[in-house]
Order: sequence, then structure tokens, then C-alpha cells
Amino acid sequence: MTSTRPALRSPCIALAVVTLGALHVAAHAGEVEVLHWWTSGGEAKAAQALKGSLQAKGHVWKDFAVAGGGGDAAMTVLKSRVVSGNAPAAAQIKGPSLQDWAKEGVLASIDDVAKAEKWDTLLPPVVSDIMKYKGNYIAVPVNVHRVNWLWANPEVFKKAGAKVPGSWDEFFSAADAIKKAGLTAVAHGGQPWQDLTTFEAVALGLGGTEFYKKALVQLDPASLKSPTMEKVLTTFKRIKDYTDKGASGRDWNLATAMVIKGEAGMQIMGDWAKGEFIAAGKVPGKDFVCVAAPGSAKAFTFNIDSFAMFKLKNEANVKAQKDLASAIMSPEFQETFSLNKGSIPVRMGVKMDKFDDCAKASSADFGATAKSGALVPSLAHGMAVASSAEGAIKDVVSQFWNSDKMSAKDAMDKLASAAKTK
Ligand code: BGC
Repeated sequence: MTSTRPALRSPCIALAVVTLGALHVAAHAGEVEVLHWWTSGGEAKAAQALKGSLQAKGHVWKDFAVAGGGGDAAMTVLKSRVVSGNAPAAAQIKGPSLQDWAKEGVLASIDDVAKAEKWDTLLPPVVSDIMKYKGNYIAVPVNVHRVNWLWANPEVFKKAGAKVPGSWDEFFSAADAIKKAGLTAVAHGGQPWQDLTTFEAVALGLGGTEFYKKALVQLDPASLKSPTMEKVLTTFKRIKDYTDKGASGRDWNLATAMVIKGEAGMQIMGDWAKGEFIAAGKVPGKDFVCVAAPGSAKAFTFNIDSFAMFKLKNEANVKAQKDLASAIMSPEFQETFSLNKGSIPVRMGVKMDKFDDCAKASSADFGATAKSGALVPSLAHGMAVASSAEGAIKDVVSQFWNSDKMSAKDAMDKLASAAKTK
């Protein structure tokens, strides 16, 4: 009997220690509710890395995922939550919208974290400028996505006897050959943001960076109603003939799956598509190929994911927000996240040796285009103009894509008025 006593006592002591331990953690642990739209296979893996890095700091992750590629649905939900006084602690907000939210006075400054960790020395100015409001950091950048990519299935191209295109002429020759071989040439999801993603790729590839900047960043009326824009619109519309009947409303990752499975030859999409190929166990350069969208090899449409923190009162939760910001900027997180997401690290100096050739090319091109002036913000991904104008332009582009009646001239008139939306 006596010999069992210590054994009986020790679980009690252990329990007491565990309880005390839990109390200790609870006193410091905060909770961060994180709004994002990363719900596809590759995206979810990347989001898991984010969750893990917050939990590693002893905090609680409250998932607030709103499905819908490009984030339009998430932004609608965010607005209603903030209006009803129930903002999440952190939200995926990008580009010029960060300034709009900051002006509303609802965002918390994370400048103390940024100063302590010297973010100004770790980020290129093109990135840090977007993350600051009145000189203070109000958001933390996660990664850099390149939007002007074309993803191809080499088996499909082989079957069709086609060559992966470098120009728009080559694109249509390849598409004809794939169509003849009885497969879908272009995997597309007919949702407004995907239409706009294709449209901006055509604008960049046919018009070049100067045209892209004038028309889609400065929203210059003359460029929006120019012969170049007319050519862009007709070329964009021509692509529709090479998509399949099921394209309307399809999610982008299902379009990527068509290329993965060899049902379709190619997809024009940002490099989050690579996250899907990788999550499906596909090998870059072998099972799939990445090339710049036709005509845009020397340019780079950038899309930077970032998180803004909303003002909170609870001290432990504020601490958790700051810990999340700090974790996001750590080199380890930057590497793991982008390996899953298909993007490249936004923090300078992160080693690229674990990354594939698509990411290495993206990284080299990001630096080179920043120097040459061919680094341009993606309109379709909230980096170029205010969200009101972006939304109006997106509507016109989708109407034009879907309508049998709208001429390129009509579309140009509509684009020029959409650009004025405040
Ligand atoms: C975001 C990506 C996301 C993609 C598809 C883009 O706007 O920047 O992080 O993977 O939309 O949802």
C-alpha cells in the first residue's frame, strides 16, 4: 500500500503544476481573430503556417475565413463587421485601401514593432510606402505575388504539338492547336476579378508598362479611350473563344485544377496558382511550366498581401496583434509561408535556395523591374487605384467579357466613366 502513495500523490502535484502553468499562460495569452480569404488547397496550407506562428507565441488564433478568390467577398464582410462595431483584430487588407481604412481612424499603429525591428531596412520602399499612413506602419506585409504569369501543362502542349507562348500571336496559335486536339485551351473562371486579372495581363503584354501605368494606374482618360485600349479589349475578348462552357462563375483554383489534370492547356493567373500545383504534388518545370503572361517578360505586376490591425482595448490581445506582426516579418515565416503560397518573401535578404525556378525568376525580376521602372501595381488585386474605381472598372470589364452586344468603343466610354468613380 505504502508504495502506491507517491504514485497517487504525484498526479495531484502534476495537475497543480499544469493548472498553474495554464493560469500563467492565460494571463499573457491574447486572442487574434484573423480575417482572410485563403481557403483553396495551397492557400489553406499557407494560412496554417500563419496560424502556427501565432500559436507558437502562446496566443489563440480565431479563424475568420471568408471564401472567395481575390477577396471581394471578404472585404464586404469586413465593412459590415466594422460598421457594426465588431471589427476583427487583424484583416487582410491591401494596397491603397489601407490608406482608406487608416483615414477612418479604426486601424492600430504597429510602428513600435516596426521601429524596434527596423522594418525600414528590411523592406523595399515600394512596399513600406504602402504599409504606412502618415509615416507610421499600419500594416505588415506578408509576401509578394507576381500576377502576370501563364501556367501551362507541358503534356497538353505536347499532345497538341504546340509551343508555350511568349507573345499574344503565339498564344492564339497554341490555343488553336489545343482546341483542335479536343482540349480546353484556356482554363478560366468567369468571376469579375478573374476577368480583370486576364484583362490587365493583356493590357500589360500588348500595351507595355508605360501604357499600363497611364491607363490602369493613373486612369488617364485619353489612354482609356485610345487605339491601344481598343486592341487590348478585342484581344481580351478573343480569349473567351478558347475557354469552356463551364467557365462562368468557376473558382480560380478549379480552373487551375483543369490545368493540373491535363483537361486544359493553360491559365493566366497570379502565382498563388503555383500553390495549387505544389499542394497537388506537382513538380515545377516537369509537371507544369511557368512563363510570364504573353508579351510581359520584362514587366512585373505586383500584388502584396498584408495585414492591418484594428484598434483593440484588451491589452493581451493588443500584445498578440503585435506578436503576430513580428512573426509575419520573421525570416522563417517568410520562407515557409511563400513556399506554400507560391509567392516570394517580401522581406529582403531571405535565402531563396529552397525555392523553385518560378520563384527564383520572380525574385530576380522583382528587383530588376524595380530598377527599370517596369514594376507595376496590379489593378485586379487592389494595388493600383482606390477600391471604388477598381470595382467600377471591374464591372465594365466583366460586362464586356460576357456581352455579345457591347463594342470595344462602348466599353472604352464606360471605362473612362468608371475610372472617375469616387
Ligand atoms: C491575394 C492572394 C490570393 C488570391 C486568390 C489575391 O488577391 O493577394 O493572396 O491567393 O487573391 O484568392
